[in-house]
Amino acid sequence: MTNGINRRTFLKGAGVLAASAALPVGLVEIAFGKGNESFTFAYISDSHITQINDTQFVRNFDRGLQKAVLEVNFMDPQPDFVIFGGDLAQLGKKAEIDHGLAMMKDLTVPVTWVIGEHDYYLDLGKYWQEKVSPLYYSFDHKGVHFVVLNSILTHDDWTHKRWPTPEERMRQMARLDNPEGSPFMVKDEQIAWLKGDLAKVKKDTPLVVLSHSPLYKVFKEWNFWTDDAEKVQALLKPFKKVQVLHGHVHQVLYNRIGNISFNAFMATAWPWPYPVSYSQLKNKVPDMTVFMNRADPFKERDGTGWGKIDLAAGPKVVHHYELWENSPRTVENNPKGNPADTKYQDPKMRIPSQEHY
Ligand SMILES: [Fe+2]
Ligand SMILES: [Fe+2]
Repeated sequence: MTNGINRRTFLKGAGVLAASAALPVGLVEIAFGKGNESFTFAYISDSHITQINDTQFVRNFDRGLQKAVLEVNFMDPQPDFVIFGGDLAQLGKKAEIDHGLAMMKDLTVPVTWVIGEHDYYLDLGKYWQEKVSPLYYSFDHKGVHFVVLNSILTHDDWTHKRWPTPEERMRQMARLDNPEGSPFMVKDEQIAWLKGDLAKVKKDTPLVVLSHSPLYKVFKEWNFWTDDAEKVQALLKPFKKVQVLHGHVHQVLYNRIGNISFNAFMATAWPWPYPVSYSQLKNKVPDMTVFMNRADPFKERDGTGWGKIDLAAGPKVVHHYELWENSPRTVENNPKGNPADTKYQDPKMRIPSQEHY
């Protein structure tokens, strides 16, 4: 069987995990039932192409992206399109974006682009808009309404007044645990646009919202966070079926708030370890994030991999994560309607939550 047939088989029927080849991309099948045509799309994210000098780039990051591109090209049948989840570049340089685009050009299917903070904070998205895509937009595909948001904006003062140079601003935004950092936001102008866009969409139309940061609040210290996420959630609330897909966190992460399911995809560049907030300590958010076997930050490919979502099963959303160096996992709605791992490892086998990185 070809990989494509394997994957099809896997998506259509449960329990054939072994049939899936390990790809560093997410394959998403959208099949909302009667009246909508089933289709798939792949998801590649966070390649962080990094320039060392004029013509040299960090090789491992190049290879992660190249591998994803090749594997998407080998899918048979081909996905309808690829979503790139943001952070194509590391420091937003033209050379990094150009080099990343040159690799992405090898794809045999079109790309839907989402901007990440590493692509944005050098020139505030100028080059991205010239060469790649608008910063936010929407489109319809086979009965599904897709919305792309730029979720990595922040306060105007921080963006425009705080830093002596654009390079310094970019460096500051790229750091974790940064006391000089500033939380991500969608901001009111874009929220007003979203309101207008969604006003034209019937409430029973399935929505897929694509952002770079999670559109909820996970861990502020690392900007796994969107400060005005609740305003976006309020606009999504009237819709029957809403799936938010995002990058940025470089790890398995999922959640559900009301009618909105959230799923992250892994990076092709490197994994982030799981922050301490994931250990289900009391008063840590979000409540329904389960304890996860953490990635090993010293193992380059631990925590990278691929996943796919099956929205075919009525109100159920089933997300399959294939981790290259870790156990495969299936996350689906439990009887309360919240996503949860279908199987947990023996507590004695768990690797303790990471407290440093
Ligand atoms: Fe990233
Ligand atoms: Fe990011």
